[in-house]
Amino acid sequence: MSAFVVAIDGPAAAGKGTLARRLAEEFGFAYLDTGSLYRAVALDLIRSGHRTPSENEAAMAALDLDQDLLFSPDLRREETGNLASVVAAMPAVRAALDHFQRRFAANPPHGAPGAVLDGRDIGTVICPDAPVKLFLTASVEARARRRFLELQTKGEVPDLGRISTEIRERDERDAGRATAPLKPAADAHLLDTSNLAIEEVFAKAKAIIETARQTRA
Ligand code: DC
Repeated sequence: MSAFVVAIDGPAAAGKGTLARRLAEEFGFAYLDTGSLYRAVALDLIRSGHRTPSENEAAMAALDLDQDLLFSPDLRREETGNLASVVAAMPAVRAALDHFQRRFAANPPHGAPGAVLDGRDIGTVICPDAPVKLFLTASVEARARRRFLELQTKGEVPDLGRISTEIRERDERDAGRATAPLKPAADAHLLDTSNLAIEEVFAKAKAIIETARQTRA
């Protein structure tokens, strides 16, 4: 039987990564944070001095992606995330990263029986046939607060107002672009995490997956 795919989409800082990791662990599935691919492209460009890259320059970086960058702590910086959102609007960059994501979903590493992928277009473009699609949302305020606390625990001195503005800008860019915009698939389960603890979100998602696995068996 083909790998069981869980597609998780949603805006920046909605809690996709934490949920995806927990679900992958629970079900023994492989996990791919697809945002890290766009972030690695952005980091490569920043390091080579291309802070306002052309589509061609960004596509070259995506085609020749240095996989070591996926483990760099600089991947999580706001500057990297913001440029990631810019290059992610470029069709040639998306095309260059498409194949890797589809292959991961179809053949999860280490023979895992399934894969959890999180991003913006997993349920709509990368894995439109995924048996489970989740779309996580949360208010800008809730997401900015979470990002603020996350950066604080890393020893940074974040500015809540600036984080809110950047989240808004990122939402507009990710949802407003022509290619693979952020939007829920028609058959996605919507989960608003603004007022839910991670345990509650996890329990809801787990129940959805268990039901879908029984249906498929
Ligand atoms: O999820 P994240 O914040 O790490 O993603 C960084 C950027 O990458 C995000 O602003 C939009 C882009 N992205 C995308 O366009 N498609 C994906 N599947 C994942 C991320």
